[in-house]
Order: sequence, then structure tokens, then C-alpha cells
Amino acid sequence: MLSLKGKKAVVTGGGSGIGKAVSVVFAKQGAEVCILELNADHAATIVEEIKAQGGKATVYACDVSNQQQVMEIFGQIGRHDILVNNAGISHIGNVETTSEADFEKLFNVNVKGVYNCLHAAVPLMKQHGGGVILNMSSIAAVTGLNDRFAYSMTKGAVYAMTLSVAKDYLKHGIRCNCVSPARVHTPFVDGFLAKNYPGKEAEMFEKLSQSQPIGRMGKPEEIANLILYLCSDEASFITGSDYPIDGGFIKLNG
Ligand SMILES: NC(=O)c1ccc[n+]([C@@H]2O[C@H](COP(=O)([O-])OP(=O)(O)OC[C@H]3O[C@@H](n4cnc5c(N)ncnc54)[C@H](O)[C@@H]3O)[C@@H](O)[C@H]2O)c1
Repeated sequence: MLSLKGKKAVVTGGGSGIGKAVSVVFAKQGAEVCILELNADHAATIVEEIKAQGGKATVYACDVSNQQQVMEIFGQIGRHDILVNNAGISHIGNVETTSEADFEKLFNVNVKGVYNCLHAAVPLMKQHGGGVILNMSSIAAVTGLNDRFAYSMTKGAVYAMTLSVAKDYLKHGIRCNCVSPARVHTPFVDGFLAKNYPGKEAEMFEKLSQSQPIGRMGKPEEIANLILYLCSDEASFITGSDYPIDGGFIKLNG
């Protein structure tokens, strides 16, 4: 069950947090993993971990917001079966406090970065008879959250791109889905707590944990296991779907 033996998978942002957990579990299940990372040095340590456990992985230094770089790297990777569009950045602010520069930065990484990888991967998948794409959305795409104006905008766009690609490439054997986690404990969360709530990190950590009715944040491995299923042949009937994985955040917060 859930074997990825013989498959090649591209994971963006695979050097940390959820992307790291995806890379590790994919390699464990037999996939050859290509990690596209801005922080290539750190990702190289993940590749060493994977190799030490008998897996196959390679790092490609890449800024997903740079189309030329992305096209060149997909050209080197060539045929692949799975794309996980995971790389993303966070931002805190409402419409008034979000600067144009921050809006554009969030758009460039979280939206254009996903578009760039889809643009590069889809022709290769078509050429080779199909593939599976998994995009990382968030509960922020479909719920009103305080001070997540730009971030929510980007995750809503990821959700919409998922539906568009799923529809357009049905006949090419490409499945495309997204997952929408609530809070997951990763360096992404620690980073924004340190940046936005200096001195109040522990208090905010507890508050964010309790905002999931289940009483805690998710673990990267929990998200990675759902992604593994959705990218496996066992999920062959699933396309055009969004999967909340949220400790009850969307439905049980009443
Ligand atoms: N952690 C959460 O609570 C949470 C919840 C919902 C959705 N998400 C989404 O999950 C994804 C991963 O989040 P995480 O918590 O694991 O974050 P993380 O910060 O731990 O990891 C993100 C990785 O993406 C890389 N990255 C950032 N910008 C990049 C770029 N331009 N090009 C290539 N790589 C880049 C970073 O170097 C980092 O290794 C993001 O898209 C995030 O929006 C996270």
C-alpha cells in the first residue's frame, strides 16, 4: 500500500517543515525525490538523512518565483510523476497594514511560484502520459482569519489554480488536488511568532494551539501522510478536491 517505488517526485520547499516531512516519507516509500529549495544548504542535510536511510534524493537550488530558474531545473529533472507545490511564506497584516511590497512578495512566492512549477511540470506530465499534482493551500483560503489578508489571498489562489488544472488536464491523466492544513508546528510558525510577537512567543503558541478544537497544532508528518496518500496510486479516483486537515478548525469551532 502507498508505494511510490519507481516514481520521481518534485517537492518544492522540501528543506523544512511540511516539505521536509513529505520528502522523507516519499523517499521511504520508494520515490526518487527532487527538492527545489531556496535554502539549498539546509536542504542538503535533509538529502543526506534520506540517503543514509537508503533513499534517493537531490537538491536543486531554486527560487520558485523565478520562472527562468524553474524552467531550467524542470528541464534537468525531465520526466517525473509527482509534483508537490509546497514552498510558501507567511505574512501578518490586514488590508491597511499590508504594504505593496509585501503583497507582491507573497504573490510572487505563494502564487507565481505555484504557477511557475505547474507551467513547467504539466507539459512534461502530458508528454509522459500523466501525473499527480498536490498543491499546498491552507484553511486561510476558505475561512476569515484575523490579519492574514495577503496570505489568505495567496492560498485562495492556490485553491482556484488546483481546480483549474484538475479540470483542464483530466483527459491527460493528470490528477490535481490540494490540502488545507490549520496550524502545523514547523519553523514557519516559530519564525512568524518570533518576528510578529517578540517576547510573547509561548503565549501565542498556546493560543494558536488551542484554536484547533483538537487542542494542539498538527505535526508535519500528519500532513505528509495525507499527501502521500493523495499522490499514490491508491488515490486514483481523486482529483479536483481540497482536503482540510485541521484538528476540527473549520467544522468544530462553533
Ligand atoms: N505551518 C503551518 O501552520 C501551515 C498551515 C497551512 C499551510 N501551510 C503551508 O505549508 C507550506 C509549508 O509550510 P511550512 O510550515 O513547512 O514552512 P517552512 O518555512 O518550515 O518551510 C517552507 C520551505 O519553503 C522554502 N521556500 C520559501 N520560499 C521559497 C522560494 N521562493 N523558493 C523555493 N523555496 C522556498 C523555505 O526555504 C523553506 O524550506 C507553505 O506553503 C505554507 O503556507 C503551513
